[in-house]
Amino acid sequence: MNKVEKVTAGLNGTIKVPGDKSISHRAVMFGAIANGTTTIEGFLPGEDCLSTIACFQKLGVHIDAQGDKVKVDGNGWSGLTEPTEILDVGNSGTTTRLMLGILATRPFHSVVIGDASIGKRPMSRVTNPLREMGALIDGRNNGNLTPLSIRGGTTRGIAYSSKVASAQVKSSILLAGLQSEGVTSVTEPELSRDHTERMLQAFGVEVERDGLTVSVKGGQELTGQHVIVPGDISSAAFFLVAGAIVPNSHIVLKNVGINPTRTGIIDVLRKMGASLELMNEKETNGEPVADIVISTSELKGCEIGGDIIPRLIDEIPVIAVLATQAQGKTVIRDAEELKVKETNRIDTVVSELKKLGAKIEATDDGMVIEGPIQLNGNTVNSHGDHRIGMAMAIAGCIANSSVTVEKSEAIAVSYPNFFEHINSLQ
Ligand code: S3P
Repeated sequence: MNKVEKVTAGLNGTIKVPGDKSISHRAVMFGAIANGTTTIEGFLPGEDCLSTIACFQKLGVHIDAQGDKVKVDGNGWSGLTEPTEILDVGNSGTTTRLMLGILATRPFHSVVIGDASIGKRPMSRVTNPLREMGALIDGRNNGNLTPLSIRGGTTRGIAYSSKVASAQVKSSILLAGLQSEGVTSVTEPELSRDHTERMLQAFGVEVERDGLTVSVKGGQELTGQHVIVPGDISSAAFFLVAGAIVPNSHIVLKNVGINPTRTGIIDVLRKMGASLELMNEKETNGEPVADIVISTSELKGCEIGGDIIPRLIDEIPVIAVLATQAQGKTVIRDAEELKVKETNRIDTVVSELKKLGAKIEATDDGMVIEGPIQLNGNTVNSHGDHRIGMAMAIAGCIANSSVTVEKSEAIAVSYPNFFEHINSLQ
């Protein structure tokens, strides 16, 4: 539980948000299947990425983690060995789905389990194509829900057309494709985050892109690398919104990843009228990064839908908080994927923000928010979802009395020092 008080003198200062979660997971996994050592700097030591490390240690890989520095001693694909223990992914969908893609081509048996939230999330979006490639997978609900058992082996490439724009689905199939016969391609309805494609190339893999189709040839090996992880724009998003809505604020967020498949939040803030600037733009390991400067702004509501959705899907809880402070109506549509995140985020965002007095209604594929409104203090609940917990804490910064966030410990999944950062800006 955590109590957030109204911020009286603005949020001011500079912070360095933790490492990107998507990139941290991939750096460990790719290092684990690569030949040679991978060293990672700026790794996110959040619970999700620590679950990835624990799983690959159980798969026989030597990994040494010291805070944000990690060393992975890869011995190639065949360095992975049959685990004697169950692979526990905790709360992490990325660990589950990407690891299944890797296990699909390994000639041994594994069992994958996670927490109660993982146990509700659909896995057939990866287990079905991986079965089509030749992996033997079973589990509850015909292999859709954890616990899952997987026996990998000889697999063949497929041309897969995904109904959802999901980087986890795309990555899982491509990873299996790297050790399958022939070519494997994935076509998605809209472009999802492309960290897998970028990082595979950095590890020496040939990846081809043609519009919304990405393909790899089978029989490819990875070579260990030095990976510098940029700050996570999905974590920065909480402070971008806080900086825009808390009066008298001016925040500098250092070294944030601005990969165009992730910057929907910047586009939305600008569309709503926020004063936001990018500085010191550069590229690290094939990923663009910048410092982002945000100040308190007059905001207007806007429409958010279509192909921007995958570029800001994780930011919708805090965008809803932003919209409560914007003049007029904000409509979020085409975001059905929110229903299968760590919680059903249409339900949890709407129910928790209503407790603070927001004018917000759920729709089938998103939500409608009317602003501006003075939020009230109250007790809210993260429902065990890190991003709901943080979004509510940011709402607490502008509510007229304190907001108590129950189950705030979930925030450690992606941002262990979140509350320290809020305090450091006051
Ligand atoms: C992620 C992809 C997205 C995102 C998740 C991380 C990744 O999920 O919501 O937080 O690292 O590949 P989907 O692939 O389900 O869209």
